[in-house]
Amino acid sequence: MLITVTVNGVEQSADVEPRKLLVHFLREQVGLTGTHIGCDTSGCGACTVLVDGVPIKSCTFLAVQADGRGIETVEGLLSEGQLHPIQAAFKQEHGLQCGFCTPGMMLAAKALLAANPDPSDEEVRWSLSGNICRCTGYMNIVRAVRAAAATMREHAAADEPAGDPAAATAEPAATTAEPATTVQSRS
Ligand code: FES
Ligand code: FES
Repeated sequence: MLITVTVNGVEQSADVEPRKLLVHFLREQVGLTGTHIGCDTSGCGACTVLVDGVPIKSCTFLAVQADGRGIETVEGLLSEGQLHPIQAAFKQEHGLQCGFCTPGMMLAAKALLAANPDPSDEEVRWSLSGNICRCTGYMNIVRAVRAAAATMREHAAADEPAGDPAAATAEPAATTAEPATTVQSRS
C-alpha cells in the first residue's frame, strides 16, 4: 500500500505492507534508527514518536495509519546542528545513562511542553508515565524536562515583539499532555 508521510519535515512516499508497524517503517524503510524497540508490547515507551504532535507508541501503530500525517522522531529535534533545548537539558541535567529510553522520553516531553510550558514535577511525571527508564531513577529526567521548559519559556519571551499587549496578557495553556498512547485510529 502506498503511503505518503512527512517525517521530520520531509515528505516521502513509500510502499508498505498493511501489517507493517510504524516503528519498523521508520527504522527499516526510512532509516531512522533513533526510535527504539524495547518491548514491542506497548509497555516501555522507547518507541514513542509524535504523530501530528501527539505522542504515540509506534510499536502498536500501523504505518498505514500514519498516511497523510506528520511524524517527528528524535532525529528531528536537532536543528541546524544545534541541540533542541530538551536535548541540551537532558545532557546538562544527566537525564540519561544508557540512553535507550531517551528518544521516547524527549518526544513525550516535547508534547508535554507544547501543551504546558511550565509543568510541575507531578505533571512531568504523569506525562512521562508511559515511558520506562531502567537506569536513571527518573529524578534527573524530571529535572531535565523542567530545565528545558525554563529555557523554552526564555526563548519564547525573547521572540515576543516588545510592547505587544496581546503577548503581555496571553495565558499559557494549562493543559497537561497525556502519556504516549498505544493506538489511535484516524478520525
Ligand atoms: S517498544 Fe516498548 S512501548 Fe513500543
Ligand atoms: S537511560 Fe537507560 S533506560 Fe533510561
